[in-house]
Amino acid sequence: MHNFKDNSIDCGSISKRLSSASVDVRVFSELDSTNTEAKRRALDGADTPLLIIAEKQSAGRGRMGRSFYSPRGTGLYMSLLLDMAGGFADTVGITSAAAVATVRAIRKVCNVETGIKWVNDIYLKNKKIAGILAESFSDGDRFFLVIGIGVNMYTDEFPEELRDIAGAIMSKKGSRSELAAVICEELIALIRGLPNKDFMREYRESSIVLDKKVTFTQNGKVFFGTAERISDDGALTVVLEDQSIYVLKSGEISLRVQQ
Ligand code: BTN
Repeated sequence: MHNFKDNSIDCGSISKRLSSASVDVRVFSELDSTNTEAKRRALDGADTPLLIIAEKQSAGRGRMGRSFYSPRGTGLYMSLLLDMAGGFADTVGITSAAAVATVRAIRKVCNVETGIKWVNDIYLKNKKIAGILAESFSDGDRFFLVIGIGVNMYTDEFPEELRDIAGAIMSKKGSRSELAAVICEELIALIRGLPNKDFMREYRESSIVLDKKVTFTQNGKVFFGTAERISDDGALTVVLEDQSIYVLKSGEISLRVQQ
């Protein structure tokens, strides 16, 4: 177990810290997945914004059908449910905003500088310490977006298969409640500011991919190149070894940064 002092996640202190009083905050001891719970509540007619947090997830989900390791008490597992007036227009902008909001919040609350690995993974010292899973759906009438964020905070003990890639913030500063509140606050501010994409400058500054040699697989073929540019709409331009240009648009690609 860890030596970090953090109380259980406290709904009252999160609500108090949020300047937007309209956010409905719900904290659970255990859920299958905060994204799944947010979706259930949306389909049940919940008001938004709704922030769902769990001390532990039994079926935490990651991108590309992966699972997200979510043990009790050592991480922050949160999902923000929003109504998307006018459909799913800018989900890419919103997920990039979520990465920037997470980096800002970890800096403010834990005093730790992290980096963004395209598309939406947050890294510290070559280890992934946080992931983002944004999902959009509709009940036929309303359009919803749920932005799930998982942050490993206080344990660097991981199952065998994660040991080489996963890490944790391991800062004695801050708490999960504070981090949840600040991520939520930063995220709502960035989303309210859309379509302004000034935050993409911060995204690029925090990128651990730009100017690095990268490799990715598409349609069974492995590509090698240098990550050259990330546009305001989140696309990553890679200059391949033969100098041809490849533009990666979605996060459904597993990209590796060569050390
Ligand atoms: C990834 O790394 O591929 C994304 C991981 C996202 C994990 C968070 S934890 C809170 C929310 N609930 C989930 O089931 N997943 C997200």
